[in-house]
Amino acid sequence: MKGLILSGGKGTRLRPLTFTQAKQLVPVANKPVLFYGIEALKEAGIKDIGIVVGDTQEEIKEAVGDGSRWGVRITYIPQDAPLGLAHAVKISEDFLKNEPFVMYLGDNILKSGISSLVEEFKEGKANSLILLTEVPNPQMFGVAELENGKVKRLVEKPKKPLSNLALVGVYMFDPHVFEAVHSIKPSWRSELEITDSIQYLVDQGYEVHPHLVTGWWKDTGKIKDILEANRLILEGISGKVEGKVDKESKVNGQVVLEKGAVVKNSVIRGPAIIAAQTEIKDSYVGPFTSIQSGCRVVHTEIEHSIVLEGSEICDVGGRIDESLIGRKVKIFRCPPKPSVYRFMVGDMSEIGIK
Ligand code: G1P
Repeated sequence: MKGLILSGGKGTRLRPLTFTQAKQLVPVANKPVLFYGIEALKEAGIKDIGIVVGDTQEEIKEAVGDGSRWGVRITYIPQDAPLGLAHAVKISEDFLKNEPFVMYLGDNILKSGISSLVEEFKEGKANSLILLTEVPNPQMFGVAELENGKVKRLVEKPKKPLSNLALVGVYMFDPHVFEAVHSIKPSWRSELEITDSIQYLVDQGYEVHPHLVTGWWKDTGKIKDILEANRLILEGISGKVEGKVDKESKVNGQVVLEKGAVVKNSVIRGPAIIAAQTEIKDSYVGPFTSIQSGCRVVHTEIEHSIVLEGSEICDVGGRIDESLIGRKVKIFRCPPKPSVYRFMVGDMSEIGIK
């Protein structure tokens, strides 16, 4: 069985971060989202993985390499334009040849991995296995309607959803899916939809098995979802303090403090992860916070947040909450006179002041 990870797309819902970074490389608990997918496939015994890449291919290739770090073999498959998930399958036909495969959307994270599902698919007779989960906002997803436990109808982002069962971004197919992707027509948004391809399989009488996911699942397409995924991953971490903590500081709960990180006169309350070469001074870092390397947090309180590489947050005075702070950002206090706010903010940034 092969793996196909989709890592193209423009990530418009994650701007401004995606002006300068591929959405699949935004870190959750200090690890790019895409790596969770690679690890899930590896854990399921899949070692031959194709990654469909678009405009951000150089960055993805640099981050992932040839896969040897995970003991897998990565083949990059360039997609000229984001023409839909089924289009990605179509252009991967040569790579996938006549084997069944798992398709994994590069911005998805599933708590319990996919190993047991891959087994279920390998052992069963289904032509496709789809993962579904109940969501409160089905109009934001592909939605499935079941009848007597069987898949009846699938609609992509329906205005009036027929159920609350969303398609999770992990799908398993046998080679019949190529017949489907060659037969369907582009949707109203000019994309070849995987949802329509699965509907084609159902209509042609192929076996499409639904599997209800019970553990948590996150599509990290929006900032709120990234913060939520960060919370869920951190909830399961085990602490490991290898950095330096001075006598005046307190580190409580599950905290990963990498070697080379420094904590001075501060309180760190886990679960939290702080990477190497980051300094925390006279500050409070609260639960569900991930801070990447080379950052400085001075005289500031922060929790439920993600801070990317090389950022400095100094003398904020209040508590930063539910924030996603990009790379090399500077947040600082202005001199007391004149009493002003001073911003130098890129396109589509969001700043909340009290
Ligand atoms: C895609 C699929 C959708 C699925 C979702 C899961 O949507 O088209 O059917 O429910 O992924 O993450 P997108 O995130 O591209 O809008």
